[in-house]
Amino acid sequence: MGEHLLVRGGKILKGQVNISGSKNAILPIMAASLLSEKEIILNEVPDLEDINVMAEALKLLGAKVKREGKVLIIDGSGVSNYELPESISRRMRASNLVMGALLGRLHEARVAFPGGCAIGSRPMDLHIKGFKSLGYEISEGSGYLHGKEQHAQGKEIMLDVPSVGATENIMMAAALTPGYTIIRNAAREPEIVDLQNFINRMGARIKGAGLDTIRIDGVERLGGVEHTVIPDRIEAGTFMVAAAISCGDVWLENIVVEHLQPVISKLTEVGVEILPWSGGLRVVGKRNYRPTDIKTMPYPGFPTDMQAQMMSLLAAIPGTSVMVETIFENRFMHVQELRRMGADIKIEGRVAIIKGGHYEGANVESTDLRAGAALILAGLAARGETRISKLEHIDRGYEKIHEKFKALGADVERTSPD
Ligand code: EPZ
Repeated sequence: MGEHLLVRGGKILKGQVNISGSKNAILPIMAASLLSEKEIILNEVPDLEDINVMAEALKLLGAKVKREGKVLIIDGSGVSNYELPESISRRMRASNLVMGALLGRLHEARVAFPGGCAIGSRPMDLHIKGFKSLGYEISEGSGYLHGKEQHAQGKEIMLDVPSVGATENIMMAAALTPGYTIIRNAAREPEIVDLQNFINRMGARIKGAGLDTIRIDGVERLGGVEHTVIPDRIEAGTFMVAAAISCGDVWLENIVVEHLQPVISKLTEVGVEILPWSGGLRVVGKRNYRPTDIKTMPYPGFPTDMQAQMMSLLAAIPGTSVMVETIFENRFMHVQELRRMGADIKIEGRVAIIKGGHYEGANVESTDLRAGAALILAGLAARGETRISKLEHIDRGYEKIHEKFKALGADVERTSPD
C-alpha cells in the first residue's frame, strides 16, 4: 500500500495561504520554450510531478533544463530531436503540447498519442485540424502522430469546441509559421493569455488571447525571456472551498481575483462571505449554506477543474443541488468515493443530483487530480478519520498540499507506505 493522507475532520481552518504558480500555465509555457534558441528563465515554478515530466520531455528533445528552487532555466539552443516517445506521453497528456512548438521550430514532430485518463478520451482532432490548416502534413500510425512541413502558411482556423490545448498548440506552431493565422472560437482561459504574453516577450506577434479570436503574425525566430507565471486559480479555488467547508477564515495571497470570478460567484450564492483583502481574498465560512446549481463551462464559465471540489461542498449542504459537467464525458469518478463517506449523489449521464448530508470518515482513493483534492475537502468536514490513497494523482498538480492545509490548522498527515 503506497503513501496515504490521514485527515481527521472537524477542524476550523484559519490563517493565510500562499498560492503557487499555475500548473496549467507553466506546462504550455515550458513547451513554448522549444520555440526559442536562447535561454528562458521561469519564476514561481512549483515542484509538481507534471512539471518534472515536461522537463524530462524537453531534455529528450535536446533542451537543457535546470531548476534552482522555484526558478526553471531552459536552454532550447540544442533542440534537434523532433520525436517524443510514448514513455513520456503516456505519463502526461499535456506533453502533447510540444507538438506545435516542434513543428514551428524544427518543421517536423512525432509525438506518441497521449494516454487518455480517468476523466475522458481526450482526443486531438482539433489540434490535427489546426496543424493541417497551417500546411503541415499530419499522419497517424502505430500510436504516433507525425507532422511534417509541406508548405506552412498562416491560415484561418475555426475550432469546433474552444479546446484549451488545441488553442495553445496551434498558437505555438503559428508563431513561427510564415503569414497571418487566425484562430476562431479559441479557448479564453487565463493560462492562454499568459502563454501569449510569454511568447510575445520572446519576440512573437500574437494578439487576442483571452477573447474568442486570436491573431498570430508569424516571425522568423524567437529569443530568450524571463517570465513569472500567473498564480494557480484552481489551487486558489480549492482553498476557498476548504475555508467554506470547514466554516473557517482563510486569507489567500498571490492570486488574480479576476480569474476566480466564477468560483467567487458560486461560493457567494451558497452563502460564503468573500472579501477583497490587499490584492488577495479573505474567505469566511458560515454555519448554514444554501444549495445551488452549477454547470461547468469554458472560461469565463465555472471551471471543470473545480467541479469535484465544489461537489464536496454541495454534498455537505442541506437541500438539493445539481451539478452539470459539460466539458468532459467522465469526470464524476470522485462520486463513488464521496458516497463511501456518506454523500447522497445520483448520477444521470453528465448530471449529478446532490442531496446534502453529513460525511463520515472512510478509506477512499483519488482517481484523478481534482478528485483527490475533493476527497481532502470532504475529509475536513467528515466525522472521524478519512484515509486517502493513490496520492500520485494529487502530487501531479498540488505542491505540498497537506503542509498548506496543516498550516491552516487542518489535522492532516501524510503517512509513509505501510
Ligand atoms: C486543459 O486540458 C487542462 N489541462 C485541463 O486541466 C482542463 O480540465 C481542460 O483544459 C479544460 O479546461 C492543461 O491545461 C494542462 P480541452 P485540455 O482540450 O487542453 C475536447 C487539470 O485538472 N477536445 O480544453 O486537454 C475534449 O475531449 C486538467 O489540471 C476535442 O474534442 O482540455 C474535452 O471534452 C484536467 N478535441 C474538451 O474538448 C480536441 O482536439 C475540452 O478539452 C481537443 C479537445
